[in-house]
Amino acid sequence: MTINLKKQVINIFKVIRKKDKELIASELAKELNIDYIVLMAAVNDLIGHNLGGFKEEEINQVSLNEEGIKYLKEGLPERKLITLMLTAGIKEILIKDLLEKSKLNTQIFYVGVSNMKKNRWIAQSKATGENKIFLTAEEFAETDLEQFLKRFEENPFIDYSTLKKDDLIQLDILNKRKLISKIRKTQRIIYLTKKGKTIKLSDLKELKQISKITPEMLSTGTWKNYDLKPFDVTKPGPLLKAGKIHPLINLINEIREIFLSMGFTEIRGPIIESAFYNFDALFQPQDHPAREMQDTFYLNNPKVAKLPNKDRVLAVKETHENGGDSKSLGWGYKWDEEIAKNTVMRTHTTATTIRRLAQFYENNDKPPVKVFCIDRVFRNEKVDKSHLAEFTQIEGIVIDENVTLCDLIGLLSEFYKKMGFKKIITRPGFFPYTEPSMEVAVYYDELGEWLEMGGSGIFRPEVTYPWGIKNPTRVLAWGQGLERIAMLYYGRKDIRDLYVNPIKWLRQQSY
Ligand code: PHE
Repeated sequence: MTINLKKQVINIFKVIRKKDKELIASELAKELNIDYIVLMAAVNDLIGHNLGGFKEEEINQVSLNEEGIKYLKEGLPERKLITLMLTAGIKEILIKDLLEKSKLNTQIFYVGVSNMKKNRWIAQSKATGENKIFLTAEEFAETDLEQFLKRFEENPFIDYSTLKKDDLIQLDILNKRKLISKIRKTQRIIYLTKKGKTIKLSDLKELKQISKITPEMLSTGTWKNYDLKPFDVTKPGPLLKAGKIHPLINLINEIREIFLSMGFTEIRGPIIESAFYNFDALFQPQDHPAREMQDTFYLNNPKVAKLPNKDRVLAVKETHENGGDSKSLGWGYKWDEEIAKNTVMRTHTTATTIRRLAQFYENNDKPPVKVFCIDRVFRNEKVDKSHLAEFTQIEGIVIDENVTLCDLIGLLSEFYKKMGFKKIITRPGFFPYTEPSMEVAVYYDELGEWLEMGGSGIFRPEVTYPWGIKNPTRVLAWGQGLERIAMLYYGRKDIRDLYVNPIKWLRQQSY
């Protein structure tokens, strides 16, 4: 008659059988180097086939308490004192001097002295009127108590029932000296049944190991006839090639969170923009080189864009020609409305923040207004590992009364700190639409370098006055490219990777 058992259960069974006696479960588990629970589960399987069992026994154990452990390591106080006298060559000494030399706590010191006397290591005399002790022997061999104490070194828990009469005397001394604790425990004893002791080992068959249970096995109950392979939860699982959010979108969402946490609202604007909003409203003269075809994509279809209300177009026209009401001299040329109507692929998201200024005028909004825009822009650039013709900008503006460059620096510091850059510096820069203008650089720890992040500044009166935003209300603005940050963030050396989408890299991204 064969019995099917798990491989591990058979192995454990063989060990028990070979030992041919009752075994303490906790000791067997330690010997086999398996978990106690695993052993007891195996015993359970043995019980299921009437091969073995276990019984419980109450046991009394003793162990050293904290003070006892200390003496086990350092020696009993009497041993410390005698060693001190021997190494210092002291044959007789005033009690009070020894106390001082020993640096022991007074109570412990006297325990030591009294035990030295008990051990007949010293004698005490007050003959000279002073309390003195004398060595009475030359050798001070290990005492029975010390020998007994050492037994706890190998075995911190000693079974009371295993102690002999002489041991009990020593245990009693330790007990009186308050150096031990008593513990009551239930211990399990594993044994084999008659069947377990006599069954032929060849009758035991290993259950087939499987790593998967099918629905059929569950419904028919046959899963019980298999040994389930244990899982190693430390091993990596199979690669899941499921869809996930693109790293760039993840980063955008994180930046969005930062702006939102700082009280900003998101705005969006058209990708196909009028030259008016992209350049003219930003006080960029119509012959500005950035407007050239080499830098800007112009569209044939639609060829022209709608401009805002005539009076606003006029305000911008006058600002260019003579400064309008901004107290500027303007550029002093004849502004052409037809040029402003041209359609372009937005070259920066600043066009979108200008649209927010226009809206501010139209709605008669009140400051403060804090908005941001994370969106696509286009420039006629040659694409290489650090340039893209189509990329993303992150832009923010604050419209408020009496805001200054210090507020802008504060905002930028806060923003970049939240992005994980702790150190930022600003240096003078130039943009046709801000005055003063600043460039922002952040310290990138991993490279140990300052990296240029983007531009910022306070919009010039020539930009804000046409929209009724006048001193002391001012507009703080900043903008930068997203993909540069993404390169740092994801450690990519080629900016194109963000769009070419190397599949291996994308698969490594977390969910
Ligand atoms: N528009 C600028 C750029 O594209 C950045 C900028 C935004 C500068 C706002 C100043 C103020 O680089």
